[in-house]
Amino acid sequence: MMSRAALLVVFVVAFQWSSLLIDASPQYTPLVLMHGIADTSARMAHIAALAQQLLPGIYVTALEVTGSSEGSVFTGSDVELICKALAADPKLAGGINVLGTSQGGILLRGYLERCNNPPVKNFISWVAPMMGVYGVPVVGHWEYLNATLDDVADCCIYEQWAQDLFSFAGYWRDPYALSTYVQEKIFLSDINNEREEKNPVYKQNVLSLENFIMGYSTIDSVLIPRETGWFGVYANNTISSVVPLEEQPLYKYDYIGLRTLQETGRLHRFSTTCVHNDYTSPCFDKYFIANVLPFINSTST
Ligand SMILES: *[C@@H]1O[C@H](CO)[C@@H](O)[C@H](O)[C@H]1NC(C)=O
Ligand SMILES: *[C@@H]1O[C@H](CO)[C@@H](O)[C@H](O)[C@H]1NC(C)=O
Ligand SMILES: *[C@@H]1O[C@H](CO)[C@@H](O)[C@H](O)[C@H]1NC(C)=O
Repeated sequence: MMSRAALLVVFVVAFQWSSLLIDASPQYTPLVLMHGIADTSARMAHIAALAQQLLPGIYVTALEVTGSSEGSVFTGSDVELICKALAADPKLAGGINVLGTSQGGILLRGYLERCNNPPVKNFISWVAPMMGVYGVPVVGHWEYLNATLDDVADCCIYEQWAQDLFSFAGYWRDPYALSTYVQEKIFLSDINNEREEKNPVYKQNVLSLENFIMGYSTIDSVLIPRETGWFGVYANNTISSVVPLEEQPLYKYDYIGLRTLQETGRLHRFSTTCVHNDYTSPCFDKYFIANVLPFINSTST
């Protein structure tokens, strides 16, 4: 494992077309992209190019929370770094649309709930572990660590050292250890307002959205269970059934405002038939154009 300090570096890569194009174009709301685990901002370049091709002149910025594809160490402090990076970019001051792929989706949800400055208008998650995972995501360079990580997850994932070390520990939701998950200050149980003490600001910020859009892949083999992309979650004390959002306390008691969003027509779901890590192929483009474009084709006043 690389040291945490080496990974906790945030920088911003901006993709922007020639300013010559901008004068004649509408002022689209800027789009912020956040990549996932074992990935880098470079793989967001395709999404940026596609958005700029469809919406000429749109300002797109891709965040990087790690300098390495090994890492993306994920803790509350990473969200703070995102907050700083976005607040520091004057081009974003009027409000933003955000799209996070995989882990990037809940990093951005952390940003929305805890900071939201500049404010998010349309929040888009693409195959993100919205209700956590229960299974080590086997991707890229992590493959050789798979068995070891599985052992760690079983023994001690909610211990502080594991929380500090592994990105996915912050959104590990063990259906057999829910009381620990809820009692300890785990990133996900916190931003989901699943802990006894609710944070009203989290809900308030979600409710300030124009739209909340979430997509999952029907063939996702990285997120376990894959329905987590739509807030699906294993039922308590089992992995044999997945409970949809509407049947969970999170929704029924409106912990973070999703029920209100649904009832006001602002919660949108779509599914794809692309593999988890596909953010570049014609398969991606097809679902992006059908489900995301209508929401990012918005102008700032
Ligand atoms: C964006 O919205 C405008 C106004 O509704 C529409 O004319 C335009 O075709 C849309 N752009 C794309 C790429 O769909
Ligand atoms: C990862 O490890 C687990 C437990 O050892 C095993 O069941 C699973 O098949 C492994 N997955 C991959 C992709 O190697
Ligand atoms: C499942 O566990 C969570 C966390 O302890 C709890 O809030 C919820 O009420 C439980 N659900 C059921 C159906 O028992």
